[in-house]
Amino acid sequence: TWSMKNVYEEQLKAIQAKVGTEDHVICALSGGVDSAVAATIVHKAIGDRLHCVFVDNGLLRYKEQERVMATFNEHLHLPVTCVDASERMLTRLKGMDDPEGKRKAIGELFIRIFEDFAKKLEVEVGHKPKFLVQGTLYPDVIESCPPPGTDLKHSHKIKSHHNVGGLPEDLQFELIEPLRWLFKDEVRKIGALLEVPRAFLSRHPFPGPGLAVRILGDVTEGNALEVLRHADEIYTNTIREFGLYDEIWQAFAVFLPVKSVGVQGDQRTHSHVIALRAVTSGDGMTADWYPFDGKFLKEVSSRICNKVKSVNRVVYDITSKPPGTIEWE
Ligand code: XMP
Repeated sequence: TWSMKNVYEEQLKAIQAKVGTEDHVICALSGGVDSAVAATIVHKAIGDRLHCVFVDNGLLRYKEQERVMATFNEHLHLPVTCVDASERMLTRLKGMDDPEGKRKAIGELFIRIFEDFAKKLEVEVGHKPKFLVQGTLYPDVIESCPPPGTDLKHSHKIKSHHNVGGLPEDLQFELIEPLRWLFKDEVRKIGALLEVPRAFLSRHPFPGPGLAVRILGDVTEGNALEVLRHADEIYTNTIREFGLYDEIWQAFAVFLPVKSVGVQGDQRTHSHVIALRAVTSGDGMTADWYPFDGKFLKEVSSRICNKVKSVNRVVYDITSKPPGTIEWE
């Protein structure tokens, strides 16, 4: 039967067979459920020949590097190295405003960063890691490169999810993708089975390309990252305060590269617009916008406009998927 225990046991055997008894494996942890569960499975299969890395790609949310590393240290009993690649990434993204171009560039640079990590590791442990673990899910596979016979509705390429469509052709690693045939709710079930902490299991999904797909256009322009981080943090905290976090599949703020006119404290302002997105979904392939009540919307809007300098307008995205996608890029 297709029970999660069977899936786990089969993956364990498959990974052991693939990696053998000598080779080493690297895995990028994002702080989210997919990579945490994928790494835990691989760790059970091959133990300390797994080396995990957390990459700060400069596109993370407010204080995310510190928070995620603290969660790893407290809860996930895997050794994790933190690599700060934020400058490298932001330099690469300067001037880029095409959504697919940005995704490709981020995916490629990610892999280069892993390669550098692997080289360092080779010096340290005397083994060149041969494999790379990715927490790719079935919906990522379908939406990036549909297998033959896929449901027509999803049979064209929608976006290059960085862990599927964006891999360079000269990739130096063989991939291990223990979640490739699973949906997110199934991954959460396996995670629970393996006692992966709730801090990971209940977290909203966060895309590999991070805030780059939530800042429309050039990510490095002005103070977009800083503004978005601040607005997003207020939004998420307000959702938690209202007790809504677990009802929502995913919620985040989006930075729009437009300015609108406002009036704040007797002054005419010409400032940024922040869009808020929140959706419910079963698997991320389709989604409905979340019907917040007026009290919540009023509160969050006034908090953001009052606290985030250079934002004078907040709008709420009332588009389901389809026709919208969940992320704006
Ligand atoms: P879309 O925007 O395609 O997103 O409706 C569906 C789900 O996938 C997440 N997403 C990604 N996850 N790498 C990821 O790991 C990516 O490149 C990526 N793009 C989108 C998105 O956050 C949503 O949960």
